[in-house]
Amino acid sequence: MAVYLEDVSRTFGEYLLIPGLTTKACIPTNVSLKTPLVKHAVGEPSPIRLNIPFVSAIMQAVSGPELAIELARNGGLSFIFGSQPIESQAEMVRKVKKFKAGFVVSDSNLTPEQTLADVVNLVRQTGHSTIGITDDGTPNGRLLGIVTSRDYRAEKDDPAMKIGTFMTPFSKLIYGRSGISLSEANRILWEHKLNSLPIIDADDRLAYFVFRKDYDSHRKNPDELSDATKKLLVGAGINTRDYKERVPALIEAGVDALCIDSSDGYSEWQQETLEWVKANYNIPVGAGNIVDSEGFRYLVDAGADFIKVGIGGGSICITREQKGIGRGQASALIDVCRARDEYFEETGVYVPVCSDGGIVYDYHMTLALAMGADFLMLGRYFARFDESPTRRLNTNGSYVKEYWGEGSARARNWTRYDLGGEKKALSFVEGVDSYVPYAGPLKDNVESSLTKVRSTMCNCGALDLVQLREKARITLVSATSLVEGG
Ligand code: IMP
Repeated sequence: MAVYLEDVSRTFGEYLLIPGLTTKACIPTNVSLKTPLVKHAVGEPSPIRLNIPFVSAIMQAVSGPELAIELARNGGLSFIFGSQPIESQAEMVRKVKKFKAGFVVSDSNLTPEQTLADVVNLVRQTGHSTIGITDDGTPNGRLLGIVTSRDYRAEKDDPAMKIGTFMTPFSKLIYGRSGISLSEANRILWEHKLNSLPIIDADDRLAYFVFRKDYDSHRKNPDELSDATKKLLVGAGINTRDYKERVPALIEAGVDALCIDSSDGYSEWQQETLEWVKANYNIPVGAGNIVDSEGFRYLVDAGADFIKVGIGGGSICITREQKGIGRGQASALIDVCRARDEYFEETGVYVPVCSDGGIVYDYHMTLALAMGADFLMLGRYFARFDESPTRRLNTNGSYVKEYWGEGSARARNWTRYDLGGEKKALSFVEGVDSYVPYAGPLKDNVESSLTKVRSTMCNCGALDLVQLREKARITLVSATSLVEGG
């Protein structure tokens, strides 16, 4: 006979926090949101600690290099999506690791042999008007010139005109050499009244551009998540099929943490993947997703460094409708966090838990942290921001951004590259392709959400996330009390 769980499967919206004593020390500026990413023994620090408890979902519509850079600059971590060919994922990781504030790797590059029509097309695609002209058209080719909107008249000039005939050639360019400081680069920009300054290496290869428009936007990022060499931290998603090729390529690119990405992680495939990575490399690997203590124990025993919780709670998810598997996110989280604490009691090893999916309101973040999550994985939340990789569209006067599930037909199409041109037959989809309201820059939104989290923590008398889960008092609410007062 099937096993029936006694508990009802519950979600965040069914709970509220009851305030505890707020002492005078409990003010938002005193609250720390630092949290461990990776398992560690009692008394030892986690090898990687996040400065804010947010990671971005392993999704095409969320975790590209721009979002990864901005999130790390604000204290969190992105897991670059794995549903793409190995080399392009590794390239995205490289892009994050190469990031230096104010130094931009050029994303618009052409060769002198290409034409004005190519310039116009590229500007339309990227929205960037400065184009590096290199010998091979790559961001790090030998610099031969640059093209900006001052070099041509898109409406009047012949579209077939060769770039070599109208670019500003290298001989007339003012440039900086690799190793130059940002303040020195800015000084040259101002002195020569330039909009952009190419930075080249000893072989005259293009390394970066420094833009005048960025000068004022270098806001301070006290929470920046970087390694000992000041490079930003970045994670990447992997799967249980091509990990023997993917993991070495990601490590070579400089990735700091991996996470096996699956809607159902309680499997021998995840066990095998974990064992293989652990036997061959010294890199943290998270595993999941699971929704109960049994799944937690299985993946921890297989070597996982953190465990991701959640099946069916994602905003674009139709796994529950399609397959009838899953569990309310709050119930799953409470069960797994209990297992984490028992494991800690037994072994002295603390395995962080990530709550993945289902965060709709900012107060759900505080609830998930109070229920024991060490950090949260967010998809829809980040998809709304400027830095997510998807298009921003105008629908009836308001802006939206595209957001699609990794189990949607759109995301799964990538496998055609993997299978050498053959498209894998899609039996059924587990995710939808939709839109989310556009919300502006990541930094402003994350600051606003975390202000609420800090403030609620003060209501609960907690100055850090450990105190929050020790002190939190959580109550179930009836449907009518939710609408109490109108
Ligand atoms: P959200 O923050 O509620 O949008 O949920 C994001 C999470 O949904 C991801 O981190 C994944 O765990 C999950 N997810 C992503 N794509 C799909 C899908 O196509 N079907 C089901 N779940 C998905």
